[in-house]
Amino acid sequence: MKPLSMMLSMLVIGMTSNAAMAEGASSVNTSLANASLPNTSLPNTSLPNISPANSELVNRGAYIARAADCMACHGEDYTGGTPIETPMGEIYSTNITPSKRYGIGDYTEADLKNALQKGRAPNHMLYPAMPYPSYSGMKEEDISALFAYLQTVPAVEEAPKEKTDLPFPFNIRSLMIGWNLLNVPSTEKRDGLNETQKRGEYLVNNLEHCGTCHTPRNSTMGFDKSMYLSGAQLGHWHAPNITPDESSGIGSWSEQDIVTYLRTGELDQRAYAGGPMGEAVAHSTRYLKNEDLSAIASYLKAVPAVQTDDKVSAVDVSRLPTPINESITHDLLAQKEYLKQAKAKVGNGSNSPESLYLATCGSCHGVDGYGQPDARYAPIVGLSSIRRERPDALVNMILHGVAGATNTSPIMPGFSDELNSEQIAGITNYVRVNFGGLTSSDVNASDVDRIANTGVDKPFLIKYAGLLAIIGIIVAIAIIMFIIRAILRSRRRA
Ligand code: HEC
Ligand code: HEC
Ligand code: HEC
Repeated sequence: MKPLSMMLSMLVIGMTSNAAMAEGASSVNTSLANASLPNTSLPNTSLPNISPANSELVNRGAYIARAADCMACHGEDYTGGTPIETPMGEIYSTNITPSKRYGIGDYTEADLKNALQKGRAPNHMLYPAMPYPSYSGMKEEDISALFAYLQTVPAVEEAPKEKTDLPFPFNIRSLMIGWNLLNVPSTEKRDGLNETQKRGEYLVNNLEHCGTCHTPRNSTMGFDKSMYLSGAQLGHWHAPNITPDESSGIGSWSEQDIVTYLRTGELDQRAYAGGPMGEAVAHSTRYLKNEDLSAIASYLKAVPAVQTDDKVSAVDVSRLPTPINESITHDLLAQKEYLKQAKAKVGNGSNSPESLYLATCGSCHGVDGYGQPDARYAPIVGLSSIRRERPDALVNMILHGVAGATNTSPIMPGFSDELNSEQIAGITNYVRVNFGGLTSSDVNASDVDRIANTGVDKPFLIKYAGLLAIIGIIVAIAIIMFIIRAILRSRRRA
């Protein structure tokens, strides 16, 4: 029976990498009605979907929807259609408005509970691209409130433009039953927490599902519990270690720093929430009550520190460029002239990292890396993403760009077509030393090639899953026939 069990674990591995990739690759196009912006605008604590006209239950549900970040995947209007990239193909989120035909208008509260806690829709199993392994711990009263609220959002009588259509054998949804036995629930409750930290634990593990991005996966592609929140790769993005480890985690952050980052998407000259984290801030954390953000911060300080090899060096302020106003940074005319000269040099074949930085990046991030915060072009001075021992996160951003968190945020293009590996390595070193304050950086072209090729090839088991599944079925039938024959023969003998 070995081939069968192997097949099953293979399917499980394949399937579940959805969850790992689920959010990393989600590119969200939503029209945020009150498009206040995550990164530099003032904190916005008013929830657009809470109204005094609604019952208290419905308003509580609206808050749960924010805290559980349903909109990051289902859209601000809940019509779905967001592609979630997985090694098996794209999985599309569905319409969860109260439309009877296209949405969940026929759902009972028990149906919603099953979908959220067990990954079971009325007629089929869900893929873990929907984070039910985390929602499995959601409280009954929160699901009731969410159910009441979801019935009040406008029904949209339209199916998402695309439908999930994974190749065989990944289209057999009932295989998820086996995976769920192994990996749901995805987290355990911790002992010795105070009330605030318990609230934080519930938010981090169940509603906000921070671990779907920040916890690495084990061999069955469930959470690796021993490496809880210690950082994971999400496609081209790296979700850093957020345990209180001093050298590789966020041990040096105060609780207030964590609150500020989750509220605004930015921590001055320390960290920036780009890509998938930018989406989590834009759709969810910036709307949380202060006491909930504080609970998250307090809980993150209480989880075990895990040290990883991706150290992040402390900010050495003395090595950072002179701040705004003291240099030509704010003199836009002078900057323009400077950038023009650099472009001319690069045009004449100069490969100097400084000219390359100025010509390629300077128009958005400024001569000194302080960017244009008012226009939400990220200041990059001092950011944790450029102070890491591994340059992967920065190189990936230069290769693939950074999508804005909302459809009104500016976008950083990728430069994989425009720049060669040597040039990207040069810019990476320039940025790390000049804006990250590192004493040295020796990234070279082959490092850039390695990073560019990481994860491009589909895992073997996924690539040949169809073929392996057919072989598995043939072998299984042969084994069953063999057993039947043996039984018949022994009967005949008896
Ligand atoms: C990380 C992305 C993500 C988040 C966050 C998310 N979902 Fe989903 N959801 C999906 C995807 C993808 C599917 C479709 C899965 C499939 O096809 O198996 C889905 C399916 C569903 C379904 C099943 C609909 C049906 O087909 O009957 C329901 C109900 C649902 N989500 C509700 C929610 C609610 C409520 C929240 C917030 C508490 C939420 N989802 C948060 C990605 C997400
Ligand atoms: C067209 C404008 C533009 C150009 C050119 C550009 N960027 Fe960006 N960059 C942005 C924007 C906008 C963001 C913030 C995106 C967001 O809100 O998530 C950003 C973010 C960043 C970040 C912060 C990422 C994080 O989340 O930690 C870094 C580092 C960065 N850029 C480096 C570079 C480098 C190096 C270059 C040149 C190779 C470059 N950028 C070129 C617009 C640009
Ligand atoms: C959709 C995936 C995703 C989810 C969900 C998510 N994060 Fe992140 N997080 C990231 C990524 C990717 C980064 C890196 C962002 C960057 O460098 O621009 C990040 C960065 C961070 C950082 C900054 C760390 C540093 O060293 O710079 C903190 C703190 C953080 N996340 C906390 C959280 C918390 C708390 C939650 C849950 C409330 C959460 N994240 C949910 C993907 C995610």
